[in-house]
Amino acid sequence: MAVVAIVGGQWGDEGKGKIVDLLAEKARIVVRFSGGDNAGHTVINPYGEFQLHLVPSGIFTPEATCIIGNGVAINPAVLLKEIEDLHNRGVGTASLFISDRAHLIMPYHTLLDALEEETRSKGALGTTHRGIGPVFADKVARLGIRAGCLLDKDIFRSRLSAALQLKNAILTKVYEVPPLSLEEIYDQYCRYGEQLAPYIRETSSMIRQAAAQGEFVLLEGAQGALLDPDFGTYPYVTSSSPLAGASCIGAGLGPREIDRVVGVFKAYSTRVGAGPMPTELKNQIGDFIRRKADEYGVTTRRPRRCGWFDAVAGRFGVEVNGLTDIALTHLDIYDDFSAVKICTAYRCEDEVLTAFPSDVTILEKCRPIYEDLDGWQESISGIRDFEKLPAGARNYVSRLEDLLSCPVSLISVGSGREQTISVKALNGESSPSSSRA
Ligand code: IMP
Repeated sequence: MAVVAIVGGQWGDEGKGKIVDLLAEKARIVVRFSGGDNAGHTVINPYGEFQLHLVPSGIFTPEATCIIGNGVAINPAVLLKEIEDLHNRGVGTASLFISDRAHLIMPYHTLLDALEEETRSKGALGTTHRGIGPVFADKVARLGIRAGCLLDKDIFRSRLSAALQLKNAILTKVYEVPPLSLEEIYDQYCRYGEQLAPYIRETSSMIRQAAAQGEFVLLEGAQGALLDPDFGTYPYVTSSSPLAGASCIGAGLGPREIDRVVGVFKAYSTRVGAGPMPTELKNQIGDFIRRKADEYGVTTRRPRRCGWFDAVAGRFGVEVNGLTDIALTHLDIYDDFSAVKICTAYRCEDEVLTAFPSDVTILEKCRPIYEDLDGWQESISGIRDFEKLPAGARNYVSRLEDLLSCPVSLISVGSGREQTISVKALNGESSPSSSRA
């Protein structure tokens, strides 16, 4: 057994929820390690279809302890609603814990997120308006309020009143909007605190102990590599690191504990929000992918921008995460295509680039250079064995492995748990289920 990090290899929405739900069946602990309720992880399993924003996707496995790690920013109202919805649909949360170090999204964070976007006007980042930028800014500015503060009303009141003094000055003097009420927020968050208290505790020691005992621990990421504040398409990025490196910090483990890093990639590319996307298809093909794959944001329902697989960006995602394996999702979306394309390099003015540029103004000028591959024009949703895939699909997967220099260990051919081709076991067990491994 092993500690395995599951991260997004592209711009998020790769299908991490399905992969975590699947692998969690054998896990001892599942930890969400970054992001907030900007994320929307879709899980379809025998309990039904769920859209999780904060609760780890392992919650459907009663034997697995699920932890919202210290690296996550929590909006208590969203979390309580999510817990209530799970209970209403017969899913228990007795094994759910919240790190006392996780930062809380406060009403001024969501308000400031909206006001900042409005001020950016044409340069808006297209955030999810969930308060993500402001909450992580406060965390590093040492102004944040953590989940553990909710357990002591005096401490909570004093931290809230210090933060609110500053926030109200910004709201009234910079944005010229009315101030927020200390009493209202205090009362509201005290009520949240009472409801969340049974879940809040120190969690990193539980995770370290399980890892030390050789248990299977899953670290569930949010968003994707290209939204990382350091390595993504800055400033069109999110505000916590979605990379595998952050899984250590967001859970409380040392880097030597991580045995495998699985990058989830879609068979094509999508992006939601502003910022460059070289392979975006603003045509019927992009529309077809969006319709067939229901490419609309889980959190905001915004239509996602769709395009061919970008292997330049993908290779970068593999490298900055140090991936050991790829889980390739949505391969079935290409079932109707007679031919497909992969972007293997960019043309930027007179230059051909094979490395992902660090400067977004260069990326904006990049045009994709494509390689054409045959499609397969048959349904693969019922296939469970790599060898039984049509030649076109096998070639496509092999070409991605070559271009990304990383093995594809799992292929998803539909949204159900069972619609999966396991090429190589991802839980640290040595028994591969396919002759290809
Ligand atoms: P924020 O994380 O809400 O601040 O948004 C910053 C950027 O990240 C925007 O382009 C969002 O659309 C994008 N983003 C944030 N969370 C997700 C996600 O879970 N999937 C895809 N894009 C996301």
